[in-house]
Amino acid sequence: MNDGAAHAPLKDLLMPLLAAIDPAAAARRAAALAELMDAGTAWSAERINGVLSTLPVVTLADLLGLPVAVDRATAAAVAAHVAAFAAAQSPLADANAVQAGAVAAQWLGNWLANAVPAAGPLPSLQQAACAAGIDAQAVAANTIGLLVQACEATAALAGNSLLHLGRGKALPGISPDQLVTEVAVSDPPVQNTRRFLAADATLCGHDVKAGDVVLVLLAAASCGGMADGERPWTFGHGRHACPGDRLAQALAGATVTALLARGAAPAVLARAFRYRPSLNARIPHFC
Ligand code: HEM
Repeated sequence: MNDGAAHAPLKDLLMPLLAAIDPAAAARRAAALAELMDAGTAWSAERINGVLSTLPVVTLADLLGLPVAVDRATAAAVAAHVAAFAAAQSPLADANAVQAGAVAAQWLGNWLANAVPAAGPLPSLQQAACAAGIDAQAVAANTIGLLVQACEATAALAGNSLLHLGRGKALPGISPDQLVTEVAVSDPPVQNTRRFLAADATLCGHDVKAGDVVLVLLAAASCGGMADGERPWTFGHGRHACPGDRLAQALAGATVTALLARGAAPAVLARAFRYRPSLNARIPHFC
């Protein structure tokens, strides 16, 4: 997420890595991992919240080549620590959440240090980074960063898609991919992003100074809809736009499909939910 000489070389390696993950293959892998993680217990709102925040993260870790799918307990532990680390980064996090996030970050760092990547792009990323003189710890931190990025926003995209179905707003027979794309525009999971001024400028007639923050209202931009082939505004635009947009849509679609196949009832879910406290995202929590 940072510009600047120290970050550019690793970003140049990470971007093509993400772009090279085939969304269709990712969806197939998510379906297989949903089987692995199926605890076979009765469905509850709590379990659905769990799948939403777990399946996309575990699938991304697996696609990168991390040994997360060895058993259900490992997959669940990795996802739980990613979720705790992600939650700690919210400005709304209290002291307990920040403390839990620090513990989770430590756990993830240790796990990654001992995890021998199986297939997948991570080994070649590590080699390329080493050849470019990039610190192995920076690669590890950014690998965890990718999992954190995938966690809440993808859970929100899948959760809002269930709500869309539950409210009877989806066209009959709509495919999971179409559903998710429609929801990304009509009920944007990420509602805003921030930009920091590098130099004094005039913006929409206002004088702004270097260092000022501009809150960019992606959700408001979405009200204009989306032209064919454009990316939904919820994924941002320009230099820092989300590089995981296609992958995230495939993972959210596969998560919705897995939940529906296991009997999740959107109309029931839409009757009892709240949004998690957040300054930038709309993440449903089913009750
Ligand atoms: C597999 C899941 C995902 C991955 C790996 C991922 C990864 C990333 C990364 C690495 C960035 C930083 C880009 C940069 O600063 O250059 C980013 C930014 C962003 N992502 Fe994602 N993301 C995922 C899912 C999502 C989802 C589901 C949404 C929204 C529905 C989303 C919305 C955004 C937004 C709004 C930004 C900031 C864009 C901006 O400020 O212009 N991401 N993402």
